[in-house]
Amino acid sequence: MALHKVGMRPEASEERRRLSLNPFYGEADPLGSMVLAPPQHRLPDGPMAPSAAYQFVHDELMLDGNSRLNLATFVTTWMEPEAGRLMSECRDKNMIDKDEYPRTAELERRCVAMLADLWHAPDPESTVGCSTTGSSEACMLSGMALKRRWAHRNRDRYPGAGARPNLVMGVNVQVCWDKFCNFWEVEPRLVPMEGDRYHLDPQAAAGLCDENTIGVVAVLGSTFDGSYEPVQEVCSALDALQERTGLDIPVHVDGASGAMVAPFLDEDLAWDFRLPRVASINTSGHKYGLVYPGVGWALWRSPDDLPDELVFRVNYLGGDMPTFALNFSRPGAQVVAQYYTFIRLGRDGYRAVQQTTRDVARNLAGEIEALGDFRLLTRGDELPVFAVATNPEAGNAGNFDVFDVSRRLRESGWLVPAYTFPPHREDLSVLRFVCRNGFSADLAELLLEDLRRAMPGLRAQSAPQSRDKAAATGFHH
Ligand SMILES: Cc1ncc(COP(=O)(O)O)c(C=O)c1O
Repeated sequence: MALHKVGMRPEASEERRRLSLNPFYGEADPLGSMVLAPPQHRLPDGPMAPSAAYQFVHDELMLDGNSRLNLATFVTTWMEPEAGRLMSECRDKNMIDKDEYPRTAELERRCVAMLADLWHAPDPESTVGCSTTGSSEACMLSGMALKRRWAHRNRDRYPGAGARPNLVMGVNVQVCWDKFCNFWEVEPRLVPMEGDRYHLDPQAAAGLCDENTIGVVAVLGSTFDGSYEPVQEVCSALDALQERTGLDIPVHVDGASGAMVAPFLDEDLAWDFRLPRVASINTSGHKYGLVYPGVGWALWRSPDDLPDELVFRVNYLGGDMPTFALNFSRPGAQVVAQYYTFIRLGRDGYRAVQQTTRDVARNLAGEIEALGDFRLLTRGDELPVFAVATNPEAGNAGNFDVFDVSRRLRESGWLVPAYTFPPHREDLSVLRFVCRNGFSADLAELLLEDLRRAMPGLRAQSAPQSRDKAAATGFHH
């Protein structure tokens, strides 16, 4: 044991030394916490005890909806405790610090390789891809690559000679594509809905293309109703266009949800890199990739599809690593959780999870149809998502609308959005049910019971009750 001489006088400078204090170590005056009323919109003048701060925030958040009862969102609301543990172990890791966190960088690389293989990339070794904060960022990056490739092909006309790039897609695309076109000054060319067709029509898409088209976006599946767009037929229509005109238009597949459903449940459906015209694909790891928000993925068929000048280099183990992202810093925990989920489930596990969710969606859709008051637009057999409108042939049709149903379900805690369709089907209002892992058959039965209980009151209304139609239709998917 070391022998300490108590009587020895320390040097004067040593006497002045103190343990360094992290301001967080000191709790504020406990009496202060009892009389404290911190301002809401201005930084408080001083600190408060962590227990008091926690309670303030916790109590306010109690008024948020219950995420498990939220059938509006596509985003994962349940993960295993082990995934949660890994995420909290990694919550301090910045994805951009590749040199400092090489293993996290390696897990990201493996996820890209797994997705390239899953999506039938012809040469997974040379497929390029990256993680993103979600599909929105992945779509921005993919759109930028399309635009830059088009600009290269049209150096003589753009930007100097005033050509204006355009992007062809269905009017049902998610709002991220409106943002892309707005932010990157690309003209959106939207194929409208027509009759019972609620998504992109291949011939109409090809008809809108010209020499300024940077690409066509096909969605797997549509945010509005969960239907898959016919990617293969879109590619064939563009093949025919090329034969006729020489225009070679690449396709981007927005597989925000479907790219993590179709590979497991619809293996024979060709929608991915099996189609030579598909240049890039995105998905949301945080949707049917089964990871908490926010992680997405973007992959390009080959390095030729992603112009090199868009790629930035960061230091990685003394070398340099290419990165493509809008943000610099981004949490690493979601990427780790994606890798965990990939190895945890494997193909068979994903298939089982997605099949269970699809079964729940189909059964629930069937039961809702059986009530007689609703008409199904989709049945949950592509994405496990379906949309219903009121049935004009039902006895009490006209007494209530989908906005009334949404409001009544909300009284029981269920969040089921109602909204109006875009051109040319603005006449159509629907309720959309997004079924996800964790929304079990038992929970679906409880939802159905609540809906059955609400129906007599809805049928007995004299007219729809939704007063503020603008607010009722303000849902942005
Ligand atoms: C088809 C489609 N694309 C893109 C997005 C945007 O995805 P994220 O929320 O991951 O940014 C969504 C979101 O629902 C979507 O459904």
